[in-house]
Amino acid sequence: MVEGLTKSFGRQVIWQDVSLTLPPGEISVLLGPSGAGKSVFLKTLVGLLPPDRGRIRIDGHDLTGAGEPRLAELRRRVGVVFQDGALLGSLTVYDNIALPLREHTAMPESRVRRIAMDKIERVGLLGAEGKRPGEISGALRKRAGLARALVLDPEVVLFDEPDSGPDPVPTAYLNQLIVDLNAETGATFLIVTHDLDTARTVPDDIGLMDGRELVMFGPREMLLSSDQPVVRRFLNSRGPGGLPPIPPQLMPTGGRIRRTQPAPGAWLAANGVVPPPGSFLDEHGRDWRAEYRRLLAP
Ligand SMILES: Nc1ncnc2c1ncn2[C@@H]1O[C@H](COP(=O)(O)OP(=O)(O)OP(=O)(O)O)[C@@H](O)[C@H]1O
Ligand SMILES: [Mg+2]
Repeated sequence: MVEGLTKSFGRQVIWQDVSLTLPPGEISVLLGPSGAGKSVFLKTLVGLLPPDRGRIRIDGHDLTGAGEPRLAELRRRVGVVFQDGALLGSLTVYDNIALPLREHTAMPESRVRRIAMDKIERVGLLGAEGKRPGEISGALRKRAGLARALVLDPEVVLFDEPDSGPDPVPTAYLNQLIVDLNAETGATFLIVTHDLDTARTVPDDIGLMDGRELVMFGPREMLLSSDQPVVRRFLNSRGPGGLPPIPPQLMPTGGRIRRTQPAPGAWLAANGVVPPPGSFLDEHGRDWRAEYRRLLAP
């Protein structure tokens, strides 16, 4: 939870008066042009950069003004995947992933191994654990960063740019992994991305950062049905005609529904907004408003 947050470097204001509450357990996406300050925002959220003004609270605990021991304790509850991966090049993938456990806990190595290998398997890195970050692709480094962010079972997961870097990461696998991990852990996710398809199909909520502020943050359906110029510029800019259809949300594998996943069309219905034609239909022509009800039924 963030209130009136402002950050500048010297005289350069990066963003000001940012307030938002990440809905607990939900997946949020943060979109914005390069240089808008998204990475700085994530670093400020975890106390790596001090804000000029404003407050940051994690689960009711104030991070602003907290001393180093308290900060370290709060940071443990937040897993971060940095844009550049931030893996240590001299360590193997396994040792990178085991590092937070060794630094923050007094677990015996056998337990460290069990947890680290479990996460390595979960993100599809089995077989790569003995390699160094320089020996694997950018896509695999992102997965390693994700595994490392997960080892302490964080309540909040911040993920900077799953889709950018030296080589573009295949987003489909990562998106499905994020949705499945959210279903499994119930943690609160915030994902910074440039990928429009990800922004439109993965999250429960979308935020837009531009022009030194958070211009909008709200439910996916609210933004995808919005005709505001700034939203259209970022999200809905397909042709001069009406708004493009709202796609169905990416579902967890195995016919599950995430605990916090809204029913398709619920926000629109509650706010009396008629969705653009063709909304919630998948590539097979199935309407996910009906599919969702079918999945809910015992
Ligand atoms: N440690 C720093 N000291 C001074 N200026 C910085 C620092 N870190 C970032 N900046 C500046 O803050 C601005 C926002 O940078 P940031 O990396 O957050 O952008 P971004 O939205 O993540 O962009 P991208 O989409 O390209 O990753 C940039 O102008 C950058 O030069
Ligand atoms: Mg960035």
